[in-house]
Amino acid sequence: MTQHPLHLLMVASEAVPYAKTGGLADVAGALPLELAKLGHDVILLLPRYRCLSESGRSFRSVCRLLVPTPQGPVETLIEEDVIPAGSGGGQVRVWAIGHEAFFDRPGLYQEQGLDYPDNLDRFSFFCRAAIEVIAYLKTVCQWNTHLLHLHDWQASLCAVYLKTLARDRQEVQGVRTVLTLHNVGYQGIFPGAQFERTGLPPSLFTPAGLEYYGSVNLLKGGMVFADYVTTVSQTYAREILTPECGFGLEGVLRNRADRFVGILNGIDVDRWNPATDPYLPAHYSADDRAGKQLCKQALQREFQLPEATVPLLAVIARLTPQKGLDLVETIIPQLMALDLQLVVLGAGEPELEAKFTVLQKRYPRRMGLRIGFDEGLAHRIEGGADIFVMPSRYEPCGLSQLYSLRYGAVPVVRKTGGLADTVVPLTGQTRQAGRATGFHVEEDRAEALLSVLRQAVALYQDRSAWDRLVEAGMKTDVSWARSAKEYDRLFVSLVRGGQVP
Ligand code: ADP
Ligand code: GLC
Repeated sequence: MTQHPLHLLMVASEAVPYAKTGGLADVAGALPLELAKLGHDVILLLPRYRCLSESGRSFRSVCRLLVPTPQGPVETLIEEDVIPAGSGGGQVRVWAIGHEAFFDRPGLYQEQGLDYPDNLDRFSFFCRAAIEVIAYLKTVCQWNTHLLHLHDWQASLCAVYLKTLARDRQEVQGVRTVLTLHNVGYQGIFPGAQFERTGLPPSLFTPAGLEYYGSVNLLKGGMVFADYVTTVSQTYAREILTPECGFGLEGVLRNRADRFVGILNGIDVDRWNPATDPYLPAHYSADDRAGKQLCKQALQREFQLPEATVPLLAVIARLTPQKGLDLVETIIPQLMALDLQLVVLGAGEPELEAKFTVLQKRYPRRMGLRIGFDEGLAHRIEGGADIFVMPSRYEPCGLSQLYSLRYGAVPVVRKTGGLADTVVPLTGQTRQAGRATGFHVEEDRAEALLSVLRQAVALYQDRSAWDRLVEAGMKTDVSWARSAKEYDRLFVSLVRGGQVP
């Protein structure tokens, strides 16, 4: 338990089980619960997207608030769901910010690969509503927000509004802000001519504020105005201070270097537990893995592949250049010459989707493909796969490889960011010590990936060596326990004005 229970307001643009496009949703769904288990009182703010109504959860009305916008005040309906946080009696309140025209849409940020043209208005509104929520909580509920935990560009403006437009408002005095960067490749960049839509004064549209080479950059605004900045692994925290990985924001971040730290993500070990996972056709654990074989056979049937005992390789990812799946696509003909099967679940770039589709048609007995987003299938793939392939060009943390460790699908990952921090590569030494949990690919090249995959497939034949790898992975602690304590220490010291750890 924490020494100092705080009132934490978490602001995120997606969270399981309500809305998800990627790992941010997993983090924003799990971290509030972990902080609540430590004794903090946490409220999570989300936009009230259409998919919230399809999440199987129900909401009750809390209040209506007026949100200032450049077009005048706009009313928002705040609705609440409550999620229990484990057996200790804690809970997390989830408050959805309503605005039908902005959020009652089929997508979160885009449709058919095209960003909504009014995303700046949508997320400016979301962030201004968050400020009104802080004021409401203080004046009506006597709940003083101690700290705002903001995630990514969609929530960044909260830090800016708090320190500028709302600076003199008595209801928001003393609120600390932490911005977590989940991926600096996505910054929320909009044409400079749209700046006034944020409602901020033109004096902030400068290189010291939100301007970025003539455009508006929301993530930059968050990085400049937040009290503290974090990212989701230690290696990525070092990488994004360099021009190669900083996506142009390395200078901004270097200015904040004394208020910036990497805290590794964990996973929700209840939602992702092969011993109880409701999506799996059979269950298993590190000590009794018989069920994994049944999961593999069921997965082979699901993809209409022969129920062979060859290694089953898997990919689950957003099909974007970040994930390096063009490298996988390039080597599929060579992979198919080996004795193995491959299943791919992903959606994203139409060109890559088309290339995988053509290849799957060419190798229907060895390769399975699902284009789309399917949470249940993602679980079944982790359950059935022997090897999980993740050749990301960069990876702030990566959660899929953590799920793979827990589900006994040995990860083969690029040695970058959080992948380097979470997968212990097989070497003479780590093998001897029984610490190895997977394989690192050093270079961003198709041949390098192919060579490591060949190594993995060869080792798969050595049953006892392979079993040790699987078991070490499954026994790795990938829970939130340690990292939630790091957030706790950071938040408490920021709020109490002490030395930040
Ligand atoms: P990122 O957030 O960059 O996409 P992560 O590894 O952190 O990468 O998280 C990805 C999450 O999204 C995982 O939970 C993974 O299972 C899920 N995911 C990615 N693509 C799909 C898909 N097509 N269908 C279902 N789940 C997916
Ligand atoms: C981002 C990153 C991913 C990370 C996730 C959650 O989507 O791309 O690496 O795991 O956020 O922090």
